[in-house]
Amino acid sequence: MIQIPRGTQDILPGTVEKWQWIEQTAKEVCRTYNYSEIRTPIFEHTELFQRGVGDTTDIVQKEMYTFEDRGGRSLTLRPEGTASVVRSYVENKMYGDPNQPVKLFYTGPMFRYERPQAGRFRQFVQFGVEAIGSEDPAIDAEVISIVMTIFKKLGLKNIQLVINSLGDKESRLAHREALIQHFKPRIGEFCADCQNRLDKNPLRILDCKKDRDHELMKTAPSILDYLTEPSRKFFDKVQFYLKELGIEFIVDPTLVRGLDYYHHTAFEVMSNAEGFGAITTLCGGGRYNGLVQDLGGPEMPGIGFAFSIERLLQALEAEKVELSVERGLDCFLVSLGEEAKDYSVKLLQELRHAGIRADKDYQDRKMKAQLKQADRLGARFAAILGEDELKKQVVVLKQMETGEQREVPIDRLVSELKEI
Ligand code: HAM
Repeated sequence: MIQIPRGTQDILPGTVEKWQWIEQTAKEVCRTYNYSEIRTPIFEHTELFQRGVGDTTDIVQKEMYTFEDRGGRSLTLRPEGTASVVRSYVENKMYGDPNQPVKLFYTGPMFRYERPQAGRFRQFVQFGVEAIGSEDPAIDAEVISIVMTIFKKLGLKNIQLVINSLGDKESRLAHREALIQHFKPRIGEFCADCQNRLDKNPLRILDCKKDRDHELMKTAPSILDYLTEPSRKFFDKVQFYLKELGIEFIVDPTLVRGLDYYHHTAFEVMSNAEGFGAITTLCGGGRYNGLVQDLGGPEMPGIGFAFSIERLLQALEAEKVELSVERGLDCFLVSLGEEAKDYSVKLLQELRHAGIRADKDYQDRKMKAQLKQADRLGARFAAILGEDELKKQVVVLKQMETGEQREVPIDRLVSELKEI
């Protein structure tokens, strides 16, 4: 038997409704914030992620599904959405649109070759938002507000917003030097990756999964001590707006994020729910002021976030939130005898075309078994049609929950059900 690949999952009926509910809720919130959907390809040129996400990140170094196509091009299944959205912004010259910032959202599968565990998959579905083209700290607060609104709307309570600033180029350079001075004398005690990162990108050391318990990690210089005046002001303003919006947060100077493109605001939403598991990050995001330029566009700043539906569902489960997902049927047609059975084919079509969720038996079941099936399918009504009913041109409409039943003329069935 061929099994599903490690780190992937089938989402079956019964669960898929929860996914749809989450996606629907998120899309509706985005609409109220005036964000439009964008769809980009599942694979891109490998170079996009090397340049966009960053050569020294775990994602690019270890986690990409990269392959050569038959034309000898190196392609990669997207590990995240931001690089693709920014590529599309540049390629489609969206920077020329007078309506800046361009506000976009997306949802779709992402791929990372990670060690699968609870909340960590090799294929996972992200819902993300990007606002490109504005330097206003109020847009940072707006973007953060979107994800907080989505999570609250879905019923999550035990969540915590954590923010930090990674500063502008100058702040980052000063911090970089301080990090090198801090780690250099004892870099031999760190893993090979971190030794490599010391000169290339010492910030990545702070994000290392292997060395995270090393004592030097706790005493590492904080970026907040190296912020330039404009960066400090920008961060203050973001916090001011968050307070204005009534969004609670804590500042964590050790929050660095695992992707290279961030400047200024970086944030994560964590779950504090008991039993959520070891990975507590539900959502990650931040500002990427150099990315549009790095990908060949003009100097245009951007900010966004992404969360995976897998992790969100896990948090909802940990908090025991019941999503009000709809399943079931409006009407199940029960037919007895050849003639009624034939008649029911067309009647069923009429119900469906009138927008009523309806089904019938296709297994030649007896009446009792058909009613049982109606029950199993969660039908609100059963419309019973036997030979006698057919002669009288009526159906027996049975309310499944109460068992109450009454005769309804066949030509009134649609309007009766619609009324109810
Ligand atoms: P990220 O932190 O790499 O950021 O991922 C964002 C979210 O995707 C995580 O918080 C988590 O919910 C989910 N996620 C990541 N990896 C996995 C996995 N292996 N299994 C399940 N869920 C996962 C980004 O991807 C950035 N593009 C976010 C962003 C948008 N920044 C600015 N704009």
